[in-house]
Amino acid sequence: MPSAPSLLVVDDDPHVRTGLCDILNHHEYKTHEAGDGRSALTLMEERPVDLVLLDLDLPRLSGMQVLESALESHPALPIIIVSGKGTIQHAVRATKIGAYDFIEKPVDAQRMLVTVRNALEKRTLQQQRDHLVNEARARYRMVGSSNPMQRLYAIIDKASRTASKVLITGENGVGKELVARAIHHNSSRAGEPFVTVNCAALPESLIESELFGHRKGAFTGAAQQRQGKFISADGGTLFLDEIGDMELNTQSKTLRALEEQAVQPVGADDTIQVDARIIAATNKDLTRAVDEGGFRRDLYYRLNVITINVPPLRERRSDIPDLVAHFLHKFSTRNGIHTRRVDGAGLTLLMSHDWPGNVRQLRNVIERLVALSDAAQIPATAVADALGRHDRKVTELRQTDLRAAREQFERAFIRRTLDAQDGQIQSTAEALGISRSHLWRKMQKYEIESPSDT
Ligand SMILES: Nc1ncnc2c1ncn2[C@@H]1O[C@H](COP(=O)(O)OP(=O)(O)OP(=O)(O)O)[C@@H](O)[C@H]1O
Ligand SMILES: [Mg+2]
Repeated sequence: MPSAPSLLVVDDDPHVRTGLCDILNHHEYKTHEAGDGRSALTLMEERPVDLVLLDLDLPRLSGMQVLESALESHPALPIIIVSGKGTIQHAVRATKIGAYDFIEKPVDAQRMLVTVRNALEKRTLQQQRDHLVNEARARYRMVGSSNPMQRLYAIIDKASRTASKVLITGENGVGKELVARAIHHNSSRAGEPFVTVNCAALPESLIESELFGHRKGAFTGAAQQRQGKFISADGGTLFLDEIGDMELNTQSKTLRALEEQAVQPVGADDTIQVDARIIAATNKDLTRAVDEGGFRRDLYYRLNVITINVPPLRERRSDIPDLVAHFLHKFSTRNGIHTRRVDGAGLTLLMSHDWPGNVRQLRNVIERLVALSDAAQIPATAVADALGRHDRKVTELRQTDLRAAREQFERAFIRRTLDAQDGQIQSTAEALGISRSHLWRKMQKYEIESPSDT
């Protein structure tokens, strides 16, 4: 731990306080003291406190009340109840509403120190976990604010709040895996593993052991026992990618695992319970595969509880400027250079492209453009080269579509600012440096819905 943890000792008896603080200081904890409930709460607001030792029998505000409001404003703060003879029952109740633990008076120094150390350790682990979750959220951030994307975010949000199975469909490179990760990272399973299985990449003989694990000696070459991805994902999310390419035989076994919420490792007699949230993805038309006999109907129904279709990029071209900016920034930073820009005509070209490989293809094109660019501004000719477009249209586009590009930019910019200002028209207008009525006109022109009328 970088600096000594700060502990707050709350007790109305100054002798008890001093006694506890002496022991704690001796073990290199910093301490603060409070003699009543109200000053305890004030202290918690005024300085960073890592843990509280709280007597229940306090003047001005009872220990129970202190506990409740402290947990409300600092939900992760460990609070250890120090209870006298008459308050044991309250202490038990306190742990039920969120106190970490309780110790009895007269306080046994060793027991107190162990409890304090465990509580702080748990808090550190929790903080590390939160940090990782936040990092993952940032890494897998989704870009785009078109109407189709807004609808996508809304459904991701709903799916995150349940543990239902999700089936994600969409063309190559639209962001299916990103959607799966977004659901996981926004769900209560966020700190647990997200495990991916590519159902297309493995031959049938291997996929079963990959999914369900195997016992040592289950087949030739099985020198070691193996856990399998279902079990690795226990408590977290199992992402079955390219499920449309799974062999029929494996489909049956997967169906059984889903029905029983248990897996049978290859070569094992018994089954093992697992609690993995299932998200599957495919770029195939599964209903057609079902009709043609390539995909089990019962498995399809089992998976298809929440369906999310990620629309192709050509149906949400207004996301292109944001995506371009996102990838320009990403690859410029990665290459250690100043963030590159694409000129207006270049952007127009990018926006008018059909992107059969969707966001992945756009990402690759931008990566290449950044790698090859010497100047801060990437010219339209370089974009045309990257897209393999050398036709006359390129030069025409420069004059006619510059305006369209500018408008797309403006629209996306207003939208983003509105979002950042929580939909407040007045503050958005101020942020943009235009009048309220001017903003209204622009919003009408670009068909931007107003989130609120204030
Ligand atoms: N909305 C988005 N914002 C930012 N990046 C995105 C977005 N959508 C996709 N990407 C990026 O595009 C690439 C392709 O996305 P992803 O792998 O999720 O697509 P996919 O639909 O699973 O593709 P495939 O069908 O080929 O498996 C990834 O690098 C991903 O980070
Ligand atoms: Mg994928």
